Amino acid sequence: MAKVLVAPSILAADLSRLAEEIRRVEQAGADWIHCDIMDGHFVDNISFGPSIVDFVRKQTKLPLDVHLMIEHADHYVPRFVDAGANSITVHVEPEAKLDVGKTLQQIRDSKCRVGLTLNPATDFKLVEPFLDRIDMLLIMTVHPGFGGQPFRADQMEKVKRAAAWNKSRERKSAGRTDSSGGEIDIEVDGGINPDTARVSIKNGANVLVAGTSIFHTNDYAKAIRDLRGG
Ligand code: DX5
Ligand code: ZN
Repeated sequence: MAKVLVAPSILAADLSRLAEEIRRVEQAGADWIHCDIMDGHFVDNISFGPSIVDFVRKQTKLPLDVHLMIEHADHYVPRFVDAGANSITVHVEPEAKLDVGKTLQQIRDSKCRVGLTLNPATDFKLVEPFLDRIDMLLIMTVHPGFGGQPFRADQMEKVKRAAAWNKSRERKSAGRTDSSGGEIDIEVDGGINPDTARVSIKNGANVLVAGTSIFHTNDYAKAIRDLRGG
């Protein structure tokens, strides 16, 4: 099984000392830094934009995992690339107002890892046509917009389907020598704590985004260890 990666979401960090917060989670064993970008249109909240991502980039060498909860993401992708994103994830819902296929290709062309995500209310069928051209599927386990919401266990069905797709992919690629056919990362985001992390991993997730359960504790190293299962 792939190593479980932990991506603290700085949405829950103390922004008045963001540099220190990033240093602390890095020292505590974080694998990526998750940056939640919200525009007040696609989701009912506004967070921060490329200039903060650029600031984060200067504080750490860890990969920056940028989650765009915005309309017209294609227009903003180049700015997040310039700011130092390593992976960029966009939403599949029509309300995100983008051409999904073109935007995934745009991210690929910019040498970032390509992520796609769907809200709890969105049918898995919408992401299926794109699975063979992404590096990561993010399964939202809360309706996006705010940290600190309870985990939606009903979303594990989607994690299982993504894991099953990875398995069938493995079979298809067996014996092939080119690099196609690799597994996609399965990331979960929202309400992730040690209990819900265990459930998510059991169902096939290998990347855990967590805000509250890391930044609202005193011991980040313990919080990250506990998410990985101790
Ligand atoms: C939800 C964001 C999440 C959120 C997670 O809108 O995409 O990344 O910050 O926060 P917690 O871990 O507090 O649910
Ligand atoms: Zn997120």
